[in-house]
Amino acid sequence: MQQYDVLIIGSGLAGLSLALRTATHKKICLVSKRKINDTASNWAQGGIAAVLNDNDSIEAHIQDTLIAGAGLCDSAVTKKVVEHGRETIEWLIEQGVSFTREQDNSGYHLTREGGHSHRRVIHAADATGHAVQTTLAEKVRQHPNITLLEDHIAVDLITTRKVKDMHSQLSNNNACLGAYVLDNSTGKVITIGAQNTVLATGGAGKVYLYTTNPDISTGDGIAMAWRAGCRVANMEFIQFHPTCLFHPHAKSFLISEAVRGEGGLLKLPDGTRFMPEHDPREELAPRDVVARAIDFEMKKRGLDCVYLDISHKSLAFIQEHFPNIYRRCLELGIDISKTPIPVVPAAHYTCGGVMTDDKGRTDINNLYAIGETACTGLHGANRLASNSLLECLVFGQAAAEDILSQPSTAIPTLPYWDESRVTDADEEVLITHTWDELRRFMWNYVGIVRTDKRLSRALRRIHMLRDEVHEFYSNFRISNDLIELRNLLQVAELIVKSAMERKESRGLHYSKDHPNAELEPIPTVLEPSNYYSLLDREHGHEHEHGHHLGHH
Ligand code: FAD
Ligand code: SIN
Repeated sequence: MQQYDVLIIGSGLAGLSLALRTATHKKICLVSKRKINDTASNWAQGGIAAVLNDNDSIEAHIQDTLIAGAGLCDSAVTKKVVEHGRETIEWLIEQGVSFTREQDNSGYHLTREGGHSHRRVIHAADATGHAVQTTLAEKVRQHPNITLLEDHIAVDLITTRKVKDMHSQLSNNNACLGAYVLDNSTGKVITIGAQNTVLATGGAGKVYLYTTNPDISTGDGIAMAWRAGCRVANMEFIQFHPTCLFHPHAKSFLISEAVRGEGGLLKLPDGTRFMPEHDPREELAPRDVVARAIDFEMKKRGLDCVYLDISHKSLAFIQEHFPNIYRRCLELGIDISKTPIPVVPAAHYTCGGVMTDDKGRTDINNLYAIGETACTGLHGANRLASNSLLECLVFGQAAAEDILSQPSTAIPTLPYWDESRVTDADEEVLITHTWDELRRFMWNYVGIVRTDKRLSRALRRIHMLRDEVHEFYSNFRISNDLIELRNLLQVAELIVKSAMERKESRGLHYSKDHPNAELEPIPTVLEPSNYYSLLDREHGHEHEHGHHLGHH
């Protein structure tokens, strides 16, 4: 058993910033299931929203966030995050992040995105995430108090509830003691004990067939927290980004909203614009409005895609503002300074997640959730563009301060992961097939526009697949893909159940059967209690046939 003060699961902006803010005083283990920079953070394009301009105001940023969130943002959390904007950007600059400056060098260039009443998005050209991620990752690599475990995937959290048989003296309050982590290079599961554990595992875009997210975004943190007994909220609010590149050879390549912010226009194949008919804010309406408008036009006209046109701007302007997008499109044969870009909506951001307070604390003692995996109350029913990286940074700091304020405690000996009753899988086809099937029906039945019938169909299929995968999980040695698939199914179920509970349309959740918003905005909170009995049954099954907790 390895022991640390803090176990951080995830090496995106949330995990890296928390690691750097705690490492001077604590011994940290940072676990990342691929390489350190294989994160959504590394792919972020547009930038980070913060009030940095004298014409802008904290009040305006709060209002824009609340409007996008459609009545479901927590106003105290929103205020806290927005008020910390300038300070967190200054911290990034101190760490060495180099943001794009105005041409006359008078200050930082601020771009504009949908739903923002002002220019307030600070950026590093169109590859902001890469600039921030790689700068912080380098510092983490060099820090003597941080042990980095790449290619290690957390399987499940270890809680006092799970190990009570071994430690009768443990308090009745459920607390997190660490996690089981599979070393992908050796195939062995290690036990990591920690005084505090932080889920910084990102979102769950891979539950959908079409997504802007990297392969790591499989909702592992949400699934692990739920299994351990945390409440999960607002999972029906999946944000679909309106403009993902549509090209057979481009997997998940985003065309930043900043392209529309700097004058890009959405067009039909014949060159006519359609956004003015859908919303007075036209191309800069919030994402849910733009994504639904595109979905509507594509379905009505039987189109494979629509087009985003920035070709009326000069080549120099495009190369200066969007060098990464320009280069990638050119590699695929699209010169965006001459022709419109084919685009489709794709799953982009998980607004819901593990419920936390304003310090990132979850329902389980010593367990935090920060970044996209959390539901802090900032995003409500729809996230305002570029508020996500800001949330990662502000909650990275808030959770760090809370962790640093706590006295040290001893970690009890934890049971090891026992594989004596499982064998190697005879065939992997169940995993690949189930993965494809799940992502396809989630796209078709639980996508941008939902109906009661589609949701029930999806839930029936999820239950069938979940049982099959559970049996496989119980009998065979676990692998990275199996862990991710099990989590994706769990998260899919949470999305569908939340969507079924919301008998209205609000923010990102649009139902043809319930097209209006109810007067009272209420978050969807799924309590784990109903699930406990099922989990316990599954646990018994595990003891009989498969993975079970061993004793030292
Ligand atoms: P991530 O950056 O996704 O990191 C998750 C980490 O957890 C990874 O290291 C992963 O390997 C690890 N992990 C996951 N599960 C496990 C496990 N079981 N065991 C071990 N490790 C695990 N937001 C903005 O605010 N501005 C933007 O301009 C912007 N652009 C975007 C562009 C794209 C293409 C995408 C996909 C998103 C964009 N977003 C943007 C959203 C934003 O990038 C993400 O919400 C944010 O980066 C999430 O950060 P995170 O630290 O929570 O998670
Ligand atoms: C983008 O650049 O369009 C993404 C911004 C975001 O998701 O916040």
